[in-house]
Order: sequence, then C-alpha cells, then structure tokens
Amino acid sequence: MNLLDQVSPFDPIVILTGAGISKESGLATFRDPDGIWAKHKIEDVATPQAFAHNPNAVLDFYNVRRAQMNDADLRPNDAHRALGALEEFWPGEVLLVTQNIDNLHARGGSQNLIHMHGELAKTRCNDCDEIIEGLGNLTTDMACPGCSAVGTLRPHVVWFGEMPLQMDRITSALSNCRLFMSIGTSGNVYPAAGFVQEARSRGAMTIELNLEKSLSASAFYEGRYGPATETVTGFVGDLKSRAAE
Ligand code: APR
Repeated sequence: MNLLDQVSPFDPIVILTGAGISKESGLATFRDPDGIWAKHKIEDVATPQAFAHNPNAVLDFYNVRRAQMNDADLRPNDAHRALGALEEFWPGEVLLVTQNIDNLHARGGSQNLIHMHGELAKTRCNDCDEIIEGLGNLTTDMACPGCSAVGTLRPHVVWFGEMPLQMDRITSALSNCRLFMSIGTSGNVYPAAGFVQEARSRGAMTIELNLEKSLSASAFYEGRYGPATETVTGFVGDLKSRAAE
C-alpha cells in the first residue's frame, strides 16, 4: 500500500529533523566519520558536569558554533526551504520538531517549530533561568543581566543528562498526527529516537528520509535514502500533489 494513499490533506503532520538536514548547508553532523563527536568528547563539552568543571572549554566549544551562525555563507538549503513551504501549502497542521540547535529551519520559513535541544542563538542563566537572545561570545566573567550572578551564563542548549524542551507539546502532537516524518537523524539519541514508535502505535504513517538507514529504520513504514536536498524536496513535492488532489 502506498504511504501517500493513506494520508489526507487535512491530516496533521509531525516532522523530526536532525543534523543531516543541515549537512548540505555546511554544518557538520555529530556521528558521521567527520562529525563533531569524532573531534570532541561528549563528556568534555556537552554535559552539566563539564560546565561545572571546565566552563571555558564548554563555552569555547559553543562559541565556535555560535560564530558559524553569523557566517554570511551559511544559508538554509532546499530541504529546509521545502519544509517551510510545506507548512504553507498543507491544509492540516504541520509541526516541525528539530534536534538541531542551528537557526536554519526558521530561516527556511518554518514557523511552527520546536527546538527540543535548545538554540545556539539563546543564552540562559544557570541560576535564574533568564533567557537572552544573541550570538556573541560567552565568557565566564560575564554577569547575568537578570540576577547579576557572574559565570552562570551558558548556551540555551540541552546537554546530555538534561531534559529536552517542550516534551508535553511534542508527545501530544505525536499522538494526534497521521504522518510522522524523520529527516537526517541517526536514531542514537532518545527520546527523539523513540518518536517513530510513539506515532506508529497511535496509527500514524511513518517515513524516514536519511542519507542511509538509521538505527530506527525498521520501525518506519517507508524509507527514502539520499541527500536531504533530494529526498525532502521529492517527498514534499509528493505531498504538494496530494494536497492538490
Ligand atoms: N542528508 C540526509 N541525511 C544526512 C546527510 C544528508 N546530506 N548527511 C548525513 N546524514 C545523516 C547521517 O547518515 C546520520 O544518520 O544524518 C544523520 C546524522 O546523525 P547524527 O550525527 O547522530 O545527528 P543527530 O541524529 O541529529 O544527533 C542527535 O545527538 O549529540 C546529540 O544533541 C545532539 O541533537 C543531536 C543528537
């Protein structure tokens, strides 16, 4: 049975994205051979313990990534833009849940967007939870503009061992959606890696669009494999035809 035949234009869609969708914009993934975790140890830069023991190393790691967001050559690619367009033309609700902390989905036109692992473009105070917008360098001698504590400012990103953001809203959308799409994620990190099972157990159609089969590949109804700029534009094109029927 064709997946698209099971989806009606007013059906709610939930999309999960990961680092693979931003790869063709020039941002490294995490677990590919040239990925970020091949060059840095998670426990040195992406845990609350790392920030407590060596805040400079953690801030340096994220300062480099924040600076990338300011690079004039960094742009959303055709896959980001296709998801932005999908939200416009699809008659049903489209919710985009991204694990990515870059800003390329918003720049690609997506508005109904949850950054479940936080955002590079935001800073949070570890003491008072004040959130500050901006991509400037963070240093340990900075004072929080909310509570004046010094050394408490950190990137507003979810580290290993911390709870992803807006899980209630995500869980509710997963249980109501009729189509779940997973794009550019390896399926290594929970809870995101379990979303396909949640959506499927509530009767949603499920499709994986990835460069290669992810760890969760067997849980999907359909898989299309190749670069996101091709698979995502192709599948969103199919949804556009479906919406026009
Ligand atoms: N198009 C589509 N998929 C691609 C492309 C591409 N051009 N290039 C790579 N991929 C795929 C890889 O094959 C891999 O399956 O994207 C996936 C990226 O996987 P990861 O590097 O593990 O990234 P992700 O799944 O987003 O990681 C999840 O782990 O470290 C944490 O917090 C970090 O949010 C991140 C989480």
